[in-house]
Amino acid sequence: MKNRVIYLVILAFGLTALWAFTPPQEKKKGGPWNVPTEYKAKENTFKGDADNLKLGKTLYAKHCRSCHGNAGLGDGPKAKNLDTSAGDFSDATWQDSVTDGELYYMSVIGRDDMPNYEDKLLDDEERWAVVNYVRSLKK
Ligand code: HEC
Repeated sequence: MKNRVIYLVILAFGLTALWAFTPPQEKKKGGPWNVPTEYKAKENTFKGDADNLKLGKTLYAKHCRSCHGNAGLGDGPKAKNLDTSAGDFSDATWQDSVTDGELYYMSVIGRDDMPNYEDKLLDDEERWAVVNYVRSLKK
């Protein structure tokens, strides 16, 4: 009887250790975004505005950092609970492949694991602020 208990305890430890040391699964990449034309060409009315960038930094810390991470690498504490990779904002190739309007759409409208922020980023000043901040994370 006692041996059986010890055996079970060892088994439980073994399984826990196995689970804890299993490397995290590579997240699936989201496919290309289907951004409506009216967003693609949307004009960034706060481009180069230093105060707007500051606002963006604050809003990013409040709303985006938990998933996208401090430097935008997609490594925030909540990222591991998501099915989809949150991308890498430091990636210059990706940055150059999207227009400001596309970034606006992805950041504000979202899709699936990427939340919608229309109720939290209330006007264009706040919305362009996060876009401009995301731009500033390009390496
Ligand atoms: C709950 C976690 C979460 C939060 C919070 C979050 N995002 Fe995301 N974001 C994601 C995920 C997951 C994706 C990838 C979605 C997909 O591809 O379908 C994503 C994608 C994006 C993309 C497109 C990236 C790419 O490589 O295509 C941008 C831009 C973006 N988010 C901006 C933001 C901004 C700005 C905020 C804050 C206002 C924010 N996100 C908050 C999870 C999050």
